[in-house]
Amino acid sequence: MEVVIRPDAEDAGRTVAGIIHRAIVAGTRTLGLATGSSPLGIYRDLVRRHRHEALSFAGVDAFLLDEYIGLRPAHPQSFLEVIRRELADHVDLDPARVHAPQGTASDPRQEARRFERALTAAGPVGVQILGIGVNGHIGFNEPGSSLVSCTRIKTLTDATRRDNARFFGGIDEVPRHVITQGLATIGAASHLVLIATGPHKSHAVAAAVEGPVSAMCPASVLQLHPHVTVVVDELAAARLEQQPYYREVARCKPAGQGY
Ligand code: F6R
Repeated sequence: MEVVIRPDAEDAGRTVAGIIHRAIVAGTRTLGLATGSSPLGIYRDLVRRHRHEALSFAGVDAFLLDEYIGLRPAHPQSFLEVIRRELADHVDLDPARVHAPQGTASDPRQEARRFERALTAAGPVGVQILGIGVNGHIGFNEPGSSLVSCTRIKTLTDATRRDNARFFGGIDEVPRHVITQGLATIGAASHLVLIATGPHKSHAVAAAVEGPVSAMCPASVLQLHPHVTVVVDELAAARLEQQPYYREVARCKPAGQGY
């Protein structure tokens, strides 16, 4: 696991966009996308790279981490719609190649299995973007999630629903259930890139990176993956004990060694 500390959220977003840009140029054709506020700077910079640096998403398939159960695809807060608004509408990513679990499927359990199969058939995902919840969730694998879970229905904690109420008219409008990739599903991607910014993420980042591997901090499962890059701003890095080492690694990176 490599921890990359950037001065601010903008810089962190640009760093992750650069990782994705290089992966696409190198031949990656499957991306894993997250929603929420953390990746917005990444998407802004990918759009800029598409417009000014000829980054093309032609032939790329994008798989979303999760979707709210009960929200129709065109709902402003469905994750499919968020990705359309923030990224797909502004680049040459074929909308038919943006894949999400369907939140309005009549049988969500079956839909979760369908999505897992589609992902496995198209995978492995080359680069998977991840955010982290203040309780350590990735995707919507809340504390207590099996570290070897596949795509399935999860119930959001009240804390997560409160956090996400800012995107809705209030907590009562936040769906209680989601379909989310499991921790094993996420772990099947070749390169996991987690972005976290702001002081409210510092506890979760420290627990995930330097704490014990535990279902109580689902993001700690990243410690078991062979290729993880954690990109944080100074504020989210604040509680990392090994900061001097992470900075030293960045300063002394061998020429040509990417992330
Ligand atoms: C979203 C997702 C979640 C978010 C997490 C952080 O697709 O899977 O894990 O990444 O809840 O959300 P923000 O970035 O809004 O703080």
